[in-house]
Amino acid sequence: MILDGKKLSAKILNSVKRKIVAKKLKIGLAVIIVGRHSASLVYVHQKKLAAEKVGMRFYEKNFPTSISEKQLLQEIEKLNRDKKIQGFIVQLPLPRQISTRKILEKISPAKDVDGFHPLNLGRGLLDLSTLLPATPAGILRLLDFYKIPLKSKNVVVVGHSNIVGKPLAMLLINRDATVTVCHEFTKNLASFTKNADIVISATGVPKLIRAKMLKRNCVVVDCGCAKVDTGLVGDVDFDSVKKIASAITPVPGGVGPMTVAILIENTYFASQNKF
Ligand code: GUN
Repeated sequence: MILDGKKLSAKILNSVKRKIVAKKLKIGLAVIIVGRHSASLVYVHQKKLAAEKVGMRFYEKNFPTSISEKQLLQEIEKLNRDKKIQGFIVQLPLPRQISTRKILEKISPAKDVDGFHPLNLGRGLLDLSTLLPATPAGILRLLDFYKIPLKSKNVVVVGHSNIVGKPLAMLLINRDATVTVCHEFTKNLASFTKNADIVISATGVPKLIRAKMLKRNCVVVDCGCAKVDTGLVGDVDFDSVKKIASAITPVPGGVGPMTVAILIENTYFASQNKF
């Protein structure tokens, strides 16, 4: 079975659009981009298309890599106060001279539609209503849509980033999965993935996950997105893994569109103070 993120994301966007039209809402989403990181430009373009599709206003704020941390903090403060903007994000990664932690902490938690503020992450950890990080929340939505159970399942998350691996582990624990988080310093990754009912990989290392590392009939979710000569590739060796997995996400068309759809849904929730 192919877990079709494109199809489900279209459903989510349609549902948000219907609510915006019915309530005649004016919602503004802003994205701050620093520099011209090529993957970031692609992601932001997809966010813009989705926002426009549902009838939100989209504001792109581009700054040069030379921007200081102080200036960027001031720009965030402007967006925190801007009545036209109900939600905004700072596209990551940021240049080295800027502390990502300081920047994310400056975003008003009520407008933090990426769910990266410590307060929102903490609320998520405690299973309180909050704006959840888009990629982890999107993965759970996709698994739920295809009725893949999580309770008591052995789930291996590969990657321990603050934006995917760590918050994903927290959401899975809140759903009573048995969670193992592996990462670049894990010894013998295959010894963990071999026992997994579900493997979720978010490393950006092409073809890291191969069929021989997996149990037959496992579920495989691929959050990787690396650019190679032949196009976009995920963390999973799709052609071999699809033969033994019971369900798998494609790249592109799996997790990526889900991330965008949840960001848009979060912006709607932020506009309604509904979290
Ligand atoms: N860079 C890669 N993924 C993301 C994301 O979901 N949000 C932001 N802000 N930056 C990213």
